[in-house]
Amino acid sequence: MELSQKTIEHFRNPQNVGEIEDPEGTGSVLNPICGDKTVIYMRIKEGVIEDAKFLSFGCAVTIASASVLTEKIKGKKISQLLSGSDDEVISRLINLIESELGEIPPAKLHCPPATVQVFLEAISGYLEKGEESPLSSRIKGLIPQVSDYYKRGEKTEEAT
Ligand code: FES
Repeated sequence: MELSQKTIEHFRNPQNVGEIEDPEGTGSVLNPICGDKTVIYMRIKEGVIEDAKFLSFGCAVTIASASVLTEKIKGKKISQLLSGSDDEVISRLINLIESELGEIPPAKLHCPPATVQVFLEAISGYLEKGEESPLSSRIKGLIPQVSDYYKRGEKTEEAT
């Protein structure tokens, strides 16, 4: 399976590459599967993500995922993004990326969830600074759960 046209466009012309000075939220995750590393920076005011940027040493799908995610979270309320059950939050965030990128090759299906993990890390750090510890702990607890979504690729590969 080839990369979708949208993925190629975001990879060739990624949006929001760079850093934000003194960000309210920042997080990074080194992916244990492939060693890709992405950092997300966010400017957050009164619970709204005003700006988001990223740096990535990753594959084309990771760069495209971070490009889409940083675009889609801008202007969103954190409470809106994190509402609902754990599964709803995780699916919503992964879907923000995958609905834009379209079909993703099975071997690359871990890349959008891995990008979501970086976002959750950044949000959890932000919430902790704002003394919203219970919510911060809940969000941090979602990060390992997102790893379950990596396996979608393995299942698809086994089935083909
Ligand atoms: Fe691992 Fe893309 S190949 S995050």
